[in-house]
Amino acid sequence: MSIAIALDGPAGAGKSSIAKRAAKALDYIYIDTGALYRTIGLAASRRGVEPVPSAAVDEMLAQISVDLTFNEKGEQIVLLDGEDVSGLIRTPEASMMASKISAIPSVRAYLLDLQRGMAKTHNVIMDGRDIGTVVLPDAQVKIFLTASPEARAGRRYKELIEKGMDVKYEDILQDVITRDYNDSHRETAPLKPAEGCVMVDTTELDFEQSVEKIISVIKENI
Ligand code: DC
Repeated sequence: MSIAIALDGPAGAGKSSIAKRAAKALDYIYIDTGALYRTIGLAASRRGVEPVPSAAVDEMLAQISVDLTFNEKGEQIVLLDGEDVSGLIRTPEASMMASKISAIPSVRAYLLDLQRGMAKTHNVIMDGRDIGTVVLPDAQVKIFLTASPEARAGRRYKELIEKGMDVKYEDILQDVITRDYNDSHRETAPLKPAEGCVMVDTTELDFEQSVEKIISVIKENI
């Protein structure tokens, strides 16, 4: 039987970089489910479909294909109708679109099988918002990773500046606060700690300490 680690928490808590490193150390596959919501957001932007529950969204879902694959380095590639959109989904606009589109129940239902299918066939660390609560409630280990909004905004700011993007810290902080609110107040699968999860707060931890902490929590619980 494959092993599943559910890793949930708010935007910018460092889930993806920490989980990638932990997955490598443990020889698991890292799955970033946010990329799937971002990809649906991109599809909607391209088609001019509003990110609200509607027949137009459902029609779009019936027409598009979203797939996950991995490159030779083991990095996740997300495909929209066969096109690699992994880079295109990383802008602040795509983040906001993903946050809105992910509140739509039919969008969440659409992505459920894809996520569960990955966990059936591989040992995974799956990163998202509802992995421990909805997608993989039977995961062997459930972790809720968080940090203060200011710490999370600061990290995201640094990341985007390093990529050469022209962004302001105050805007990023406001985005983090808005997305936290959207993600935890939506009706379907809101962001909340799963029953029986281990809470890990990285506000005072640096990257290496966070990785160590996650690996030790996983080892203690499998
Ligand atoms: O992790 P991220 O920032 O790439 O996620 C983008 C958006 O998708 C975020 O606003 C919340 C949403 N999301 C979700 O609702 N459920 C998941 N399992 C993963 C992400």
